[in-house]
Amino acid sequence: MTDVTPLARSTTPAEFAAPEAVLTLTGMTVAYAAAPAIEDVTARFAKGAMTAIIGPNGAGKSTLLKATLGLLPTVSGKVEAFGLPLARALPRIAYVPQRASVDWDFPARVLDVVLMGLYRQTGALGRIGKAETARATECLSRVGMEAFADRQIGALSGGQQQRVFLARALAQGADLYLLDEPFAGVDAATESAIITVLKSLRDEGRSIIAVHHDLATVPAYFDRVLLLNRRLVAEGTVATTFRQALVAQTYGAALPGTIPA
Ligand SMILES: Nc1ncnc2c1ncn2[C@@H]1O[C@H](COP(=O)(O)OP(=O)(O)OP(=O)(O)O)[C@@H](O)[C@H]1O
Ligand SMILES: [Mg+2]
Repeated sequence: MTDVTPLARSTTPAEFAAPEAVLTLTGMTVAYAAAPAIEDVTARFAKGAMTAIIGPNGAGKSTLLKATLGLLPTVSGKVEAFGLPLARALPRIAYVPQRASVDWDFPARVLDVVLMGLYRQTGALGRIGKAETARATECLSRVGMEAFADRQIGALSGGQQQRVFLARALAQGADLYLLDEPFAGVDAATESAIITVLKSLRDEGRSIIAVHHDLATVPAYFDRVLLLNRRLVAEGTVATTFRQALVAQTYGAALPGTIPA
C-alpha cells in the first residue's frame, strides 16, 4: 500500500485536533514593578506531551512558570491543571527551577534532598523508612547519581545538582513536570540522561513543560512548542509552530534550526 507513507501518517487529522489540556492559563498578567513581565497570556498545554517554552532572555518564561505555580502573585489570570483549580492540582505538579536562581548552599545530603520530594506523600513529619529510602535511591539511580547519595548537595557540580533536583521531582511521582532550563550548563551525557528520563515520563502519559534555549534540539526533544515574548506568540506542534517566521517574530531576529516559513 503506497498511500500509508510516514508523511501521510504525520498529517492525519489527529495532528491538528486540539489535544486534551493538562494545564490551562487564562488571561495571565504578571508585573514585578509597573511594566508587566508577561501580559494577558492565554495558553493550553497538551496532556501527555513534552512542550518547550521558547523565547529570548527576559521574555517572561521563568515568570510564567512561577506564576503558574502560585509562587508569584498575578495581576490577573486563572490557572487550572487537570481540570482543577491550582490549589487542588499542586500536589500533582513537580517543579525544577532555573539553576542560577537557587542557592544550593544549604547543608543537606543528596539523599535527603530527594526524600524531600516524598514529603507530600509522607507528610512533613512523616516517618522516613526503608521504603522511602529505597524509592529515593531508585530515583537517584534513574539519573545516574546513586553513588552520590551521602554527599552534601553543595559539594556537587552544577550538572550533578541538576540531576539530583530532577531525582527529587521524580520521587514526587507528579503527573505534570515544570522544568526551567533543565539542560542549562550540563554536559552532553547529563543532557542525554535527563532527556531519556523525561521521555520515559511522557511515555507513561505524564506531561512535561520545559523552558528550552537550544533551538537545534527542539525537534528531537519536544512534541510541541510555546513561543513567548511577554505575550504569547503561538502554541502548537513542532511541525506547525516551530516555524522560521514565528520564531523570528518571537526573537525579533531570523534564527537557524527552525522549519522554513
Ligand atoms: N524579581 C524580579 N524583580 C523585578 N524584575 C524581574 C524579577 N524577575 C524577573 N524580572 C524581569 O521580568 C522580565 C522577565 O524575566 P524572566 O526571568 O521571567 O525571563 P526569562 O524569559 O526566564 O529569561 P531568561 O531566558 O534570561 O531566563 C525580565 O525583564 C526581568 O528583568
Ligand atoms: Mg528564565
